[in-house]
Amino acid sequence: MNNKPYRVLFVCLGNICRSPLAEGVFRHLALKAGLGKHLEIDSAGTAAWHEGKPPDSRMRQTAESRGVDISQQKARALRAEDLVNFDLILAMDRENLRNIQQLAAKNPSSARIELYRTFDPEVSRGESAEVPDPYYGGQEGFDLVFDMVERTSKVLLKELSSLSRAQQDNA
Ligand code: 4NP
Repeated sequence: MNNKPYRVLFVCLGNICRSPLAEGVFRHLALKAGLGKHLEIDSAGTAAWHEGKPPDSRMRQTAESRGVDISQQKARALRAEDLVNFDLILAMDRENLRNIQQLAAKNPSSARIELYRTFDPEVSRGESAEVPDPYYGGQEGFDLVFDMVERTSKVLLKELSSLSRAQQDNA
């Protein structure tokens, strides 16, 4: 990857379940791959209800049991500046994607905005899929979201590092 960090923002509704997990897992994988300094990683919610709060305790525990610490992260709302401050904004579901796109229609925006599971290897190319909201369900929903986020973030990291290598080769 080149010198300027590539900035990735994960977005869900409350920023206490899905997107903080995606942030934590992606950072964990990036650090393990030695790519920590090449990436800036954050998450936000399209709703501001939980601003300043740590991730949901069920999500924290699920992550911890799988070796990822998300306990120090704090929820925040998506801001218009995010549209120029990030290179890639990944929405956890279609409703959040629509809300980000609506914000982008009314504000300066340079970010690439996509559904997160575009990078899920279990979703066929060209299909769109969502990360289900585990907030109102049981533990199995949190486990399912962890599995989905882990495999998706692995592919995302691979694609971003090869994209950056190709850019360097062309420089
Ligand atoms: P998230 O999940 O969008 O994955 O953080 C939710 C968190 C809180 C609520 C809904 C979804 N809520 O209604 O407070």
